Amino acid sequence: MKQQFLPLVVRGLMALLVIAFMLADSNAWAAPGQIPIILTGADRRPAISFDGDWSTIVDPYFSGLFSFHHQERSDGWFRNYKAQPGDSFPTEYDFSKAPKLKVPADWNTQRESLLYYEGPVWYEHDFTYQPKPRTRVFLHIGAANYRSWFWVNGQKVCEHEGGFTSFNCEVTGAVRAGGNFVVAAVDNTRHEDGVPTLETDWWNYGGLTRSVSLIEVPEAFIDQYDVHLSRAEGSVIEGWIHVAGAQSGAKVEVEIPELDAKTTASADKVGQFFFQMKVNGLERWSPETPKLYKVILRAGDDSIEERIGFRTVETRGTEILLNGKPVFLRGISIHAEAPYRTGRANTDKDAETLLGWAKELGCNYVRLAHYPHDESMLRAADRLGLLVWAENPVYWALEFDNPKVLAKAEQQLDEQIGTSRNHAAIILWSMANETPITDARTHFITTLADRARSLDPTRLITAALLVRAEGHTKIVDDPLGKALDVIGVNEYIGWYEQHPESADTTNWRIDYQKPLMVSEFGGGAKAGLHGGDKDRWTEEFQANIYRHQLGMLNRITQLRGMSPWVLMDFRSPNRVLAGIQDEFNRKGLISDQGEKKQAFYVLQKAYQDQSVGKPE
Ligand code: GCU
Repeated sequence: MKQQFLPLVVRGLMALLVIAFMLADSNAWAAPGQIPIILTGADRRPAISFDGDWSTIVDPYFSGLFSFHHQERSDGWFRNYKAQPGDSFPTEYDFSKAPKLKVPADWNTQRESLLYYEGPVWYEHDFTYQPKPRTRVFLHIGAANYRSWFWVNGQKVCEHEGGFTSFNCEVTGAVRAGGNFVVAAVDNTRHEDGVPTLETDWWNYGGLTRSVSLIEVPEAFIDQYDVHLSRAEGSVIEGWIHVAGAQSGAKVEVEIPELDAKTTASADKVGQFFFQMKVNGLERWSPETPKLYKVILRAGDDSIEERIGFRTVETRGTEILLNGKPVFLRGISIHAEAPYRTGRANTDKDAETLLGWAKELGCNYVRLAHYPHDESMLRAADRLGLLVWAENPVYWALEFDNPKVLAKAEQQLDEQIGTSRNHAAIILWSMANETPITDARTHFITTLADRARSLDPTRLITAALLVRAEGHTKIVDDPLGKALDVIGVNEYIGWYEQHPESADTTNWRIDYQKPLMVSEFGGGAKAGLHGGDKDRWTEEFQANIYRHQLGMLNRITQLRGMSPWVLMDFRSPNRVLAGIQDEFNRKGLISDQGEKKQAFYVLQKAYQDQSVGKPE
């Protein structure tokens, strides 16, 4: 037993270090006390929902927050001031008369005039509340793209940067009995020193794009936890729980009723509880059997009820082992674009539709690109048995030599892993996509990869790399490969380069003895456009690319999975070919209106026959 305990404590100390790290430098530009916290499983807690219609004011000059000399105003619109007769100054805004926008949603697809609006928008919402003794209150924001500021009753409660991760602002000291109001300013302006930066091949939907709510917790509460199956001991469930405000000597309890398993643990100096418990009769989670268990965490007056699947994932040479067995990842890449209505996907229905199509394709795996997706998507993947590649929005050419940019990427990574670490579906944390090969970049992403590994040593680290070619040989030798457990490569033979048939004569040289994933390949097609398989933009041309790609990929003995680009057409301002693209990337196997293209059936057949990828 003693022997068994050691690794967990060491790992725990590393996790502690990182948590301290996280608390230290995230949101470096937010004032103390206004730094949002990470809450694991926030969506599992009872909450007062603020979803619905919010009053909104579009403010391109941000004059609600900055004066004409660009100083931050003390009398900004966050005060939600109501003009009074006899005022000696004009009040030039009134939320009660302002038009509404829905939350959660992007603003771009809600109003024609806002489709391509990038800039600040103000949101205001009234609510009644009754403060309770020995209770702390947090404003939970599922996501706000890109920079956001929050005030309750005119009091600043937090600021945040990053459009795809959830965060929680303490409002205990700001709420009052009776009528309250929350005001948010959200600005989706793109920044050179942003994460992502100026250029993306997806539309930069702005707004409170995921649910907003009020969460009440006791003075000592569980803010983060990790519950997983030990890789070393097949029937040992282990992990840690961090309790904010924990009294020394406090105890926590972890219970899995269905396995008749329960254990308690005591706190260390910083409110961290490590636990291990032996279980009998565990049914492991896998795509074939996506078994989820009710797990109850108790700490003093606080408790959380989770639904968690238990599985292990690791590599062995060039193999990926799921529950100790080699696995081939039959996947597809997916953007968080809502089917049919377009805009940011954020509902259970969106998730069911998108992942339902992936299951119909015969997938056991999906790449959720290029940023953290909504918890509803991850919960659906857990339920449906779809393995997940989850990605941090380090996309294309960031300012890799700027330490502030690294801090932003680290903060987003901390929030992503802190929030989503208990999803059995997630097996891969991707650090980046298609970044230029420079020393600054390799150092930047290697730092992120090391951070991810210390935050979560139970999963695999990857990234989507560009590949170079010499003649008919594709060469995978990007130095970043050293920092990864699994190598992802994007290639577009037959679309951006050469012809579909060129895949037949393409060889691959892979300079790493690691599992290889082809994280992107594909081509564009307008649904319903038909012609010969040499006619670009037709379904026949796209299907032809897939046929030749599948042949080539089967010749790569080190290949352990693929996620063709992309499940569904998605909005992108780069794609302006009239009558064909119309501001959508048309590489989907399905159009944004649900029309399946021929290539959908080519890939479906290969996945259902399992004629691609042979786990050795
Ligand atoms: C790139 C990139 C995607 C993009 C795709 C395309 O590889 O990673 O974000 O949409 O190619 O060009 O369609």
